[in-house]
Amino acid sequence: AAKAAGKLWLGTAADIPGTGEAADPYYITAFNNIHDFGEATPANIMKFEFTEPQQNVFDFSGAETFLAASAGKAIRCHNLVWSQELPTWITAPTTPWTNATLTAAMQNHIIKTIQYFGDRCYSWDVVNEAFTDGAVTNYTSNIFSQTIGPAYVVLAFDAATQAVKSNVNGSSSVKLYYNDYNIENAGAKATAAQNLVKDIKNRGIQIDGIGLESHFIAGSTPSKATQQANMEAFVALDVDVVVTELDVRLNLPPTAATEAQQVVDYYNTVSACVAVPRCVGVVVWDFDDTYSWIPGTFPGQGYGDIMYQPNGANTPLVRKAAYDGILEAFLGL
Ligand code: G3I
Repeated sequence: AAKAAGKLWLGTAADIPGTGEAADPYYITAFNNIHDFGEATPANIMKFEFTEPQQNVFDFSGAETFLAASAGKAIRCHNLVWSQELPTWITAPTTPWTNATLTAAMQNHIIKTIQYFGDRCYSWDVVNEAFTDGAVTNYTSNIFSQTIGPAYVVLAFDAATQAVKSNVNGSSSVKLYYNDYNIENAGAKATAAQNLVKDIKNRGIQIDGIGLESHFIAGSTPSKATQQANMEAFVALDVDVVVTELDVRLNLPPTAATEAQQVVDYYNTVSACVAVPRCVGVVVWDFDDTYSWIPGTFPGQGYGDIMYQPNGANTPLVRKAAYDGILEAFLGL
């Protein structure tokens, strides 16, 4: 249905290897169903702390396990530069970073990692979540912005562009994305992301797309029209968009009303993507509530995914009405 709607895929994040879901045969069977998931995003294993645990000592073994488990799927590789899941050699260096040394370390990480995976990545989220929330948007305070300044974002895309141009392992086909949340409707943060796209392009640096994370709350999700207009505002800057981390959480326990609202919210986001030709795909941030990040971060909330295991981990999965909401949106119903 996603392909019939002109999209590349419906995809999902998966926390493989290393967490419970990787060892849950029912989860894995559902993940492997290529008719549901034509794309996979590593929830954690391609992040900085795993891929470069010591400076210039790379470890792609976990990522290789992920890729093997995802055979046949496109991969949105995630992510190269973020404030979280950093190795201690970045966050607590033995010699304090200078602008020059941290820029070199960051760029080395980006170039070597993109070149290693080459065309096995459909895209890379080059920089993740660089902007703050609120009425006035600023650059998030992290080791990169503190040491290098806001320019770290452009410098990251510059390194990624070099890696793509080198075409090592077919890297020339890799698309470069900026990925963030709370940029799914118009506002200061979406404007900041749009200004970033313009700035990067004006410098002759490559940026191919924007990841709209779309971690939503049932009942306070932007309307289809709002999301569509926002996607079109990005596309007007000559970039693709992807819904990269869709989930719709609600207060536990779910009620008939909140679950019905959740279906509408899933439907609206996917419908907005269907209406925008350069919204090239939709990815859910995992599909099974059993392994969702939501309850750990938002106590009392959950039920945000499109499937669950009513009898607990390692038991059969059930598709929720939200799954049908996605399907109906792709089918144009
Ligand atoms: O694997 C260890 C386990 O051995 C240990 O016992 C346990 C104790 O806390 O931690 C486990 O690691 C956790 C890891 O997820 C695997 O489950 C980390 O603590 C936890 O911080 C990590 O959370 C991830 C989070 O990013 C990090 O901020 C989530 O899985 C992942 O879903 C989440 O994904 C992010 C995207 O990358 C960016 N957008 C937002 C999204 C949701 O926060």
